[in-house]
Amino acid sequence: MEGIEYIYELCEALPRSGPGDNESTKRAFNSIPKFQPTPFILDIGCGQGMQTIELAKVSNGEVIALDNHQPFLDILMEQAKKYRVAEKITPKNISMLDMDFEEKTFDIIWSEGALYFMGFQNGLKRCHQLLRNKGYLAVTELVYTVSDPPPQVVEYFEDEYPDIKNIGENIETIKEERFSLISNFTLPESSWLNNYYLPIENELPRLIKKYQENEVALTVFEGFRNEVDFYRKCSRFYGYEFFIMEKI
Ligand SMILES: C[S@@+](CC[C@H](N)C(=O)[O-])C[C@H]1O[C@@H](n2cnc3c(N)ncnc32)[C@H](O)[C@@H]1O
Repeated sequence: MEGIEYIYELCEALPRSGPGDNESTKRAFNSIPKFQPTPFILDIGCGQGMQTIELAKVSNGEVIALDNHQPFLDILMEQAKKYRVAEKITPKNISMLDMDFEEKTFDIIWSEGALYFMGFQNGLKRCHQLLRNKGYLAVTELVYTVSDPPPQVVEYFEDEYPDIKNIGENIETIKEERFSLISNFTLPESSWLNNYYLPIENELPRLIKKYQENEVALTVFEGFRNEVDFYRKCSRFYGYEFFIMEKI
């Protein structure tokens, strides 16, 4: 993908690489019945790991933090040391498309804003294989929060995320893939703004100045600017949904 290095440079300067917040991670984790005192957890597409560290804190388990961008894993482990949870986290630099774990390995699989790299449905299938019987899966996925989004929003997502569905359609897919839904909730607007869009807006002027002669970089940064502006205009039609489910 052209310009990916500029996306990484921007994201490495942020607290996280997508919408989310510790309160929502904790809320999702607390909706899982207490079945295993020290769960073995896989966090797919962990990025710089805000949710990985929260999971290590709240779960009393061991977390494999998987991402294919080493600088994110380095940031994560630095932060983990700061929060004194480094011994509970093992970073693993591989692609989620090439995961080589044995089937039925994990008690819990987590993925905030990243499962879509495998495709939502395909990602559910893969997680079903890797989870122990009656294991739990918690993911956030970009969804329409209304049943009939206006044409300008549909048009926008035809380019940006053509796989986007509404919450009910995603719940149908979850059932199809042999999970039972335990709970779901929509991330609050603050989790888009505080940890993601406002930090992006802080970083953009510096990066635009640094790369003022670089068309590719400037196009990437303009894309982020447009995404934030679009969210401000149209966020009542879409959002991130947390789905917490049990393997059946
Ligand atoms: C939108 S970010 C979300 C990061 C983090 N979960 C969060 O909420 O802040 C998606 C993450 O998936 C990672 N990623 C993308 N493709 C991947 C792949 N094929 N295998 C593993 N990780 C991947 C990216 O490096 C990035 O860290």
